[in-house]
Amino acid sequence: MEEAQKQEICVDERLQHIAFIMDGNGRWAKKRGMPREYGHAVGAKTFERVTRFCGDIGISTVTVYAFSTENWRRPQHEVRAIMKIFGEYLNTARKKADENRVHVVFIGDMSIFPENIREQMRTVDVETAQYPTTLNIAVNYGGRDEIVHAVNALLDEGKTHVTEEEISSRLYTAHSPMPDLIVRTGGELRLSNFLLWQSAYAEFYFCDTLWPDMGEAEIRAAVESFYQRKRRFGGV
Ligand code: FPP
Repeated sequence: MEEAQKQEICVDERLQHIAFIMDGNGRWAKKRGMPREYGHAVGAKTFERVTRFCGDIGISTVTVYAFSTENWRRPQHEVRAIMKIFGEYLNTARKKADENRVHVVFIGDMSIFPENIREQMRTVDVETAQYPTTLNIAVNYGGRDEIVHAVNALLDEGKTHVTEEEISSRLYTAHSPMPDLIVRTGGELRLSNFLLWQSAYAEFYFCDTLWPDMGEAEIRAAVESFYQRKRRFGGV
């Protein structure tokens, strides 16, 4: 991307964290007479392009919703295809993280994955922890599950009464600031169990663009829209 263009949408401390609900892969593929799996493969490329671009314009934390606790209900062949794409990404994640100087963190209930995959995810996380920006990849993630997990962790520690701060500190995203902007592609106007706790004061940007078509122009529009909002966090 041109340097001059990049500077045009430089962000400041008001926009540190953008989270994406990457919706529309299946419809994008169907429109082209292709199987839904093809949409996910192209969507994975879009994920890499979009997250790199966000880093380029100065976003310090990006979170993506790659696979929800509910997505297992999809047909087996589709789940298998997404897991294959995810596995391929995982194999190259360290190299890509080094190139982009990004700390890659996998968030969600990892207990469902085999130990070798969990180990691979932990290794990428630990070995990229020195980088200045963060990419949270939500897999087997559910917002309600995350809150239950946080509360249970506190109960296990012997707490009988919990505070908001304590719950926040046990979320899968405890290492990240709360999202400033949540972007959902694909035309649906809902959160689908994504970052339920963290989204309390987030701004939302919904667009019809299907995820594989997501690009710089739409991100620019989302960022511009964000800067037109007045965030009051419950005040006046
Ligand atoms: C939603 O589109 C997309 C998903 C449930 C899967 C997202 C997965 C990827 C982008 C690829 C893997 C990611 C990584 C991190 C390598 P949809 O299938 O619900 O689309 P539809 O609404 O058109 O049916």
